[in-house]
Amino acid sequence: MKILACGDVVGRKGRLAVMEHVPKLRSQLQLDGVIINAENAAGGFGITQAIAQEFFNIGVDVITTGNHAWDQKCVNNFFSKESRLLRPINYKTDKPGLGITKIKLHKNKSLVVINIMGKLFMPPPVVADPFFTINSTLKEYRLKQNNVDAIIIDIHAEANSEKMALANYVDGQVSAVVGTHTHVPTADARILPKGTAYQTDLGMCGPYDSVLGMQKDLSISRFLGAVPSPHMKPANGEPTLCGAVITIDDITGLALNITPIKIGGLLDSSNHQSF
Ligand SMILES: [Fe+2]
Ligand SMILES: [Fe+2]
Repeated sequence: MKILACGDVVGRKGRLAVMEHVPKLRSQLQLDGVIINAENAAGGFGITQAIAQEFFNIGVDVITTGNHAWDQKCVNNFFSKESRLLRPINYKTDKPGLGITKIKLHKNKSLVVINIMGKLFMPPPVVADPFFTINSTLKEYRLKQNNVDAIIIDIHAEANSEKMALANYVDGQVSAVVGTHTHVPTADARILPKGTAYQTDLGMCGPYDSVLGMQKDLSISRFLGAVPSPHMKPANGEPTLCGAVITIDDITGLALNITPIKIGGLLDSSNHQSF
C-alpha cells in the first residue's frame, strides 16, 4: 500500500498546490490513499465544508487538522457528520468531530488514520495526555487484526522531542507517524527499529517566501510588538507541496519506505541541482 501524507495546507496558494499536484501524484505514483492536514486551508485559519469537499473531490481520502480545526465557525456541523474530516482525538473540548477514522481503499484494504495533538508549547485549550490517549486507542486497533491493513498517525505538535518520543513509543504498532503544525519540513524521514515510518514534520503546502505561510511584513510587525497586533494573512508566492510517500508492507502493515517530497515553489526538490 502506498500513501501520500501532506503537511498543513495554508491558504489559497496551498490549496492550489494540492489541487494541481495530488491528482497527478495519485496516478504517477499509483497511490492507494492521500491524507492531508488542512487546518490552515481557509485563509490560514481552519477549514470550511466547501474546501474539504474540494479536497475529497480531487482524491484526498482523509483530512486531518489541529489547533485551528474550528477557527471557521460554520464548519462545526460538517465536523459532526463527516467521518473523513478529523480533529485531534485528545482535545479536551465539547467541539464536534472524530479523532480517528477507518476507511476502505481499493482492493478492499483498510486504512486507519489517527489525528492527535501534542501538549508541549501548544496554545490552549489543553489536550489530554497524548501518550496515554494513543496507548488506549491502539488497544482497539492492531495492525493486521480485525481488517486493519495500515495505521497512520498525524501528531500535530510543536516540540520535536514530543513527536519523536511518541513515534518511538508506538514503534512497531503502527505503519507511520508523521508530524504536522510547525510548517517546516524536517530532514529526518526514516524507518524506526520496529518498522514504523517517521518524519518529525512534513512541512506545509503553501508559499515559503513567507513566515510559516503568512505574509512576512505582518508577522515581523507582530514580533516588533505592533499594537494592535496585525491579523495574519496568507502569503501570495508560489507554493510548495510538502509531504511524504509511505510504502507499507501488505503482509505486516509496517513500513517499507518513507520518501519526503517537496514539489514546486522555493523548496522544490523534484529537479536535483548540481553542486
Ligand atoms: Fe498549521
Ligand atoms: Fe497547528
